[in-house]
Amino acid sequence: MNKFKIEHWVYKNILRPYLFAIDSEKIHDQMIRFGELTENAGWFLEAQYSYKSDRLKRSFLDVDFENPVGLAAGFDYDGHLAKTMKHLGFGFNTIGTVTAKPYGGNQKPRLLRLVKSRAILVNKGFKSEGATKVAKRLDAKNLQGHTVGISVGSSNIPEVNTIDKAINDYVFTFNVFKNKPYVKYFELNISCPNTAMTESFTTPQNFEKLVSAVSKLNLKQPIFVKMPNEIVSKEAESLVRIGLRYRINGYIFSNLVKDRGNKYFVKSEIEKMEGYKGNFSGKPCTENSNKLLAHVKTKFGNKVVLIGLGGIFNAKDAIQMFESGADLVQLITGMIFEGPQIAGEINYQLSIGK
Ligand SMILES: Cc1cc2nc3c(=O)[nH]c(=O)nc-3n(C[C@H](O)[C@H](O)[C@H](O)COP(=O)(O)O)c2cc1C
Repeated sequence: MNKFKIEHWVYKNILRPYLFAIDSEKIHDQMIRFGELTENAGWFLEAQYSYKSDRLKRSFLDVDFENPVGLAAGFDYDGHLAKTMKHLGFGFNTIGTVTAKPYGGNQKPRLLRLVKSRAILVNKGFKSEGATKVAKRLDAKNLQGHTVGISVGSSNIPEVNTIDKAINDYVFTFNVFKNKPYVKYFELNISCPNTAMTESFTTPQNFEKLVSAVSKLNLKQPIFVKMPNEIVSKEAESLVRIGLRYRINGYIFSNLVKDRGNKYFVKSEIEKMEGYKGNFSGKPCTENSNKLLAHVKTKFGNKVVLIGLGGIFNAKDAIQMFESGADLVQLITGMIFEGPQIAGEINYQLSIGK
């Protein structure tokens, strides 16, 4: 029996029942604090959790990835775990979404587990300490050898209420991070369904305005556009076509699911969410993510680098994303449900070909 199987068993049968009995946001905050405390115990964490093999290494858009399994935006909003996630076996980790201005987040409760549906209701709405403070924290960490990215969104505050103001707001954050040597890639988040501006930049016209402004920044790092989940293939195709014109080659499928009629919800569980605002991660995201990945890869081939995301709980789910067209994958909910060994476990199985 390999170490991951034992760790997986211990997490699911001993730790998870305890953790899931406590309020999700409280546990999340405690995990962030504990995770940051362990950032200098890399050798110990790596021995426990990570799996290394040259067969797992990837390189896309001039960025080196130690393995193809990354942490998605939304777990480490303010960069506390920038150093820790590599030690847990992740090949890359995204911080944020970071916004120019600080925002305390939408009203609580804004994180609820749907255990049977293997999903989480999320309504954080770009909780962020703000770009300047996050950059200061990251400046103080030694991130050499880590593949860290910054997810950029526009501040979810009443003053940022027009397309032009939102674009300026995105640009501010890019400027804060663009010369930081530890930032290896950016995510351009156009698809948060939990903010006042919602998905304003998923229309071709606004998207073009945004990418045109971003392209003028002459960023050294590549950009991955974080796409919504509930768009049809043709809409995804037309956004990618626009992005390619501005030399944006990276795309992530996808963000959260809004449709409470999604067939992957267990009915009794989704009914209990009535009265709670928010949108959903996990299994309900998977089918559309795979569909969009497949369409975009078929249309654009090697012109695009795709990250598959949404409901990856094990190596089989990751392999399905790769087969659909993903070059890399990311996850959050899988780690919360299956345990901190998940990246190592998936990498081990990818490496031995299972
Ligand atoms: C608690 C939580 C917070 C999230 N916040 C963000 C965010 O700030 N920016 C973003 O681009 N995606 C955010 N997401 C979406 C995830 O990055 C991802 O697209 C989605 O959860 C599907 O992946 P998963 O099923 O592996 O969690 C969040 C997801 C979760 C669970």
